Amino acid sequence: MTAAMESLIGMVNRIQRACTVLGDHGGAEGALPTLWEALPSVAVVGGQSSGKSSVLESIVGRDFLPRGSGIVTRRPLVLQLHKTDDGKPDYAEFLHMPNRRFSDFSLVRKEIADETDRITGKTKQISPVPIHLSIYSANVVNLTLIDLPGLTKVAVEGQSESIVQDIENMVRLYVEKPNSIILAISPANQDIATSDAIKLAREVDPSGERTFGVLTKLDLMDKGTNAVDVLEGRSYKLQHPWVGIVNRSQSDINKNVDMIVARQKEREYFETSPDYSHLAGKMGSEYLAKLLSKHLESVIRARIPSITSLINKTVEELESEMNHLGRPIAVDTGAQLYTILELCRAFDKIFKEHLDGGRPGG
Ligand code: GDP
Ligand code: NA
Ligand code: MG
Repeated sequence: MTAAMESLIGMVNRIQRACTVLGDHGGAEGALPTLWEALPSVAVVGGQSSGKSSVLESIVGRDFLPRGSGIVTRRPLVLQLHKTDDGKPDYAEFLHMPNRRFSDFSLVRKEIADETDRITGKTKQISPVPIHLSIYSANVVNLTLIDLPGLTKVAVEGQSESIVQDIENMVRLYVEKPNSIILAISPANQDIATSDAIKLAREVDPSGERTFGVLTKLDLMDKGTNAVDVLEGRSYKLQHPWVGIVNRSQSDINKNVDMIVARQKEREYFETSPDYSHLAGKMGSEYLAKLLSKHLESVIRARIPSITSLINKTVEELESEMNHLGRPIAVDTGAQLYTILELCRAFDKIFKEHLDGGRPGG
């Protein structure tokens, strides 16, 4: 990946965050939401227990997500990965706690759970208000992923009957956006025809051009069966290749098997499997992370002209709003408007340089 492209993904991340913060305020209602819509992101979709959290943790190379039975993810988690090369230890930062750096990832897990409860109460309800988390590590690729509540078919005790539909509506909101990349997670030990993720992806992206099919739990298939027909695109065709995954099993998790060790075991699984060794180079969570990062870059690149014109529109609106608001503007709002204005200008400049550079390919 080139340095210029790295900063493109980073820029998009920062604008996404700024849009979210500003979204809470009365102002800037015109172009900002449109700008947020126009920025590409990767939405993670799947049924409960399909392996979504495991895939995310594997992509990050860290144990940091709340787990348990029932609906654990009850608010969207916008997860921004930043690759570092300064040799410093990994750390995480929440947008709602800008002054605190987390280096203990079990505290990250706790804060996600606590912050979920702060908005939803302990009622097991869901909320569309996202939590923003950034992770800085040498073991990640630059990527923004949005973890969403798992699709479910029945409400559990203590939840309203509408929860099934509420979850689907929330997930739909993210995957419907034409600029959304869908990471559709299905477990290999269930018939692909019954996959919640594929069902939804098929509805909102019938041609399969923005869907990445991920097949988890390959190690849990019945003996004598394999998923080669799915992985080679014969069972359900997508424009992008399917990626097979072997995550940590529940007993691995209980034994605290390290994520980096788990990635290594996954690689060995594919390399030594009689069924999948011919596909080994295109399987596994590390390959998936690289594939997504590369794709996200190319989507951003393809959208440069339309995003640039939207940014110019946003800058104009923000400038006129700031003039209009004049002095009595709330300090917070003023500072945030100013931040996004600066970001937009910087973004525009980088995009222009990129267009002038005119390099094809990635
Ligand atoms: P989520 O509800 O979609 O987030 O699913 P989780 O990632 O929490 O996984 C649910 C359960 O399935 C956990 O006990 C995981 O250990 C297990 N699991 C997920 N993926 C795999 C896999 O590829 N192989 C095995 N053996 N277990 C898996
Ligand atoms: Na799930
Ligand atoms: Mg989960």
